[in-house]
Amino acid sequence: MAKKKETGYLSAKESRRIAKANRKITDEFEKKYKRKNVPESEYLTEMHDKSNVLEIDDLHTYFFTDVGTSKAVDGVSFEVPQGKTVGVVGESGCGKSVTSLSVMQLLQRPQGQIVSGSIRLNLGDKAYDVTNTPIEVMQKLRGNFVSMVFQEPMTSLNPVFRIGDQIDEVIELHEGQHMTKEEIKARSIEMLELVGIANSEGVYKMYPHELSGGMRQRVMIAIALACSPRLIIADEPTTALDVTIQAQILDLFRSLKDRINSSIMIITHDLGVIAEMADYVVVMYAGRVVEKGTAEEIFAHPAHPYTIGLMASKPVVGKKVDKLYSIPGKVPNPINMPDYCYFRDRCEMKCGPECDGEYPHEISLSPTHKVSCYRFYGQQVSDGKGGEQ
Ligand SMILES: Nc1ncnc2c1ncn2[C@@H]1O[C@H](COP(=O)(O)OP(=O)(O)O)[C@@H](O)[C@H]1O
Ligand code: SF4
Ligand SMILES: [Mg+2]
Repeated sequence: MAKKKETGYLSAKESRRIAKANRKITDEFEKKYKRKNVPESEYLTEMHDKSNVLEIDDLHTYFFTDVGTSKAVDGVSFEVPQGKTVGVVGESGCGKSVTSLSVMQLLQRPQGQIVSGSIRLNLGDKAYDVTNTPIEVMQKLRGNFVSMVFQEPMTSLNPVFRIGDQIDEVIELHEGQHMTKEEIKARSIEMLELVGIANSEGVYKMYPHELSGGMRQRVMIAIALACSPRLIIADEPTTALDVTIQAQILDLFRSLKDRINSSIMIITHDLGVIAEMADYVVVMYAGRVVEKGTAEEIFAHPAHPYTIGLMASKPVVGKKVDKLYSIPGKVPNPINMPDYCYFRDRCEMKCGPECDGEYPHEISLSPTHKVSCYRFYGQQVSDGKGGEQ
């Protein structure tokens, strides 16, 4: 941790010292990713459970900035089972996007780095540990096996190229060897139809700015699905859209998932979206998972005070409230995390002096339902894997 002056500001000298130390650390990580001709044995791995398409295990992703190290993701673990939808929910800034960018190897580098943990991607015949996979290999996995839909499609669509060219490019990159130009175009148009664009031939020739927000998001989804990925990561895919379009896009995800038999990790701060889409829910707070379980468990029996607060802050149709509940207090600063429960300073259910002790470890309330909170100590059940974790 950097020494700060009493004013809370870093001196220029101190800041330079941090920048230099950061460069040394990030250079090491960069070397690992930029390796060429690495033998497969260094990045292939075994899934812990072959029915999962993704396993994130104790992931730590930090940003080495000039004002200190931001622990954006600080020990996150969860799985995405094959053919299922997992919803990741939490307030803005809790590390949802950084978790998904880590899976895709799309972190803002060199300052953003996975410092420890594993990310196991199951591609059927092989499983990759993304944290050890060199860039040149990862480029082949993205789009082919795992793809991502972002919140704001304008940031991912290139404004100077026609829609058709942008979809063609993805298909060509991944399947160009065994498809002719005409076949690629036919496939692009088919993708546009699949995502519910009626005038597909017309849209194929348009530029992004000629489309509405909802249409652009559909195009993004068409690009993400062009190669039938096993895993789709959708980061706030409907946040920028109005409610009607939002409902249509969610419907689209549901039907497409079944059609191409893939899994979805959907990230949102909106519990309504999770309720509609998810089989499993992961609740994140300040860079960690505080609770996870099946959607039924999380909605019917929320355990962590933060999850309970999130549920209470969700508006319910037909229920009249004077003021919408919001969880009081602020998320701790990721550059200077406390060593006790990160939610303590906002928690209205503190159970006793243990809440001031070290960060609570994870308790299994059922084989699928886990929570990190002292209120449940003593209620641990077998997690179904033989023994405590
Ligand atoms: N490029 C970056 N440089 C420094 N810090 C970052 C960067 N990207 C994200 N962070 C920090 O990581 C934390 C988690 O961010 P993010 O994953 O984007 O949150 P969200 O849950 O809203 O998606 C935040 O504290 C944010 O400030
Ligand atoms: S451990 Fe204590 S302070 Fe933290 S969420 Fe649970 S009850 Fe609240
Ligand atoms: Mg985000």
